[in-house]
Amino acid sequence: YTQNARSKVTPTFLLLGPSGAGKTSLASLLQKRSSNPEDSEADAALTRVSQVSSTVSLLLSPSIPLGSNKYRSENDAHLKDKQPTPYVLIDTPGHGKLRLEAALSQIQNPGLRGVIFVVDSTVLDASDSSISRDTAVYLHDTLLAIQRRKAIAKTATKIPVLVAANKQDLFTALPTGAVRERLETEIERVRVSQSKGLGRVGEDTDADTEDDILGGGGEEKFSFKLMAEEYGINIDVLGGAVKGEEAGKGVRRWEEWIGGCL
Ligand code: GTP
Repeated sequence: YTQNARSKVTPTFLLLGPSGAGKTSLASLLQKRSSNPEDSEADAALTRVSQVSSTVSLLLSPSIPLGSNKYRSENDAHLKDKQPTPYVLIDTPGHGKLRLEAALSQIQNPGLRGVIFVVDSTVLDASDSSISRDTAVYLHDTLLAIQRRKAIAKTATKIPVLVAANKQDLFTALPTGAVRERLETEIERVRVSQSKGLGRVGEDTDADTEDDILGGGGEEKFSFKLMAEEYGINIDVLGGAVKGEEAGKGVRRWEEWIGGCL
């Protein structure tokens, strides 16, 4: 039953991230590439601040390997006819007030195959900047929503997360490895302050508390590896640039990540 229901809906990816990270730019770049997959230089369209979610129907170039093909035999027709693979991307508003309702609620979407969380790699260097903290809080809340989805329905499919470390063309951008470290450190801070908040609420630690804390209530510091080990939620951080002089850099790797989820 689950398998059937799953195959009827178009595989859906959710595009999340704070305002200004480059979500809408990425959605339009992927749209251009889906009509002309060989054009990696395709210039992303101008964007404006998004107020509502918008759904974009896309095609993944047949040159991108699909995760599901790993289990098919070499002679399978799927590999021979080389059709592009349809998928859907939901571009969401990044602004604080809008994202709870418009963005995080989509994590319950039954067709959801993956979450692409776009970050601006130039805003994470100063740990006390509000935009850096906002990025970490938003990613924390996103991961917690995915963790809860898994906890509520034990059979729920795993939702992998791609952190797209965008704006790598700018010289102020942190390299991908440093983006990962900064996010892990900042998320740990959010986790500590939130678990203290929960601790004060009730005297007894009720059974639900663990699932209300990202990565569980353990002693171990937060890391993306912990999410994979404890909850089977895989998080990859891959750098790239949607715009600027190196527009299109790394976008193929992001598409390969999408292909791996299909
Ligand atoms: P909201 O709609 O407010 O949630 O923002 P968003 O995440 O959709 O960001 P958007 O795509 O509107 O991009 C914000 C700004 O960043 C725009 O001015 C883009 O041109 C710019 N931008 C996006 N990606 C890159 C990049 O890779 N490099 C550079 N230099 N600029 C980028």
